[in-house]
Amino acid sequence: MKEKYQLVYRQVKAMVSKESDPIANMANVAALLHETFGWWWTGFYRVDGESLVLGPFQGPVACTRIPFGCGVCGTAWKMGETIVVPDVEQFPGHIACSTLSRSEIVVPMFEDDAVVGVLDIDSKELSAFDQTDVFWLEKIVALL
Ligand code: SME
Repeated sequence: MKEKYQLVYRQVKAMVSKESDPIANMANVAALLHETFGWWWTGFYRVDGESLVLGPFQGPVACTRIPFGCGVCGTAWKMGETIVVPDVEQFPGHIACSTLSRSEIVVPMFEDDAVVGVLDIDSKELSAFDQTDVFWLEKIVALL
């Protein structure tokens, strides 16, 4: 796991040094993470006024807008911190874009101390994410 994350981190670092467009970089980061770890859904939501709007992702069709403070994504935005959900059925207000999602991690992205988006990852396994994922995904998102 650690070795895979180290490699992904180096690849993302190289990627963002060559391209400054945030959408292009988010698209490739979603693809790289999704391919490397085989998660169910891997993608970004960007802050757009009072809601999050769907950004680049890999996986099944997802909901396009999530209001501030709603679901795991909107809560991570509101709190400004990473949220790990071992069992989505136990998270009050979880938004089920796919009934096959069992666990989830949402990492906020910051610009000048304000949340500008989130990285959202869903797994079909329960408890798929731990502190290793928090550590590396926060580092990867900081590169963006
Ligand atoms: N489950 C998320 C919604 C986004 S989908 O998982 C892609 C949430 O509760 O915010």
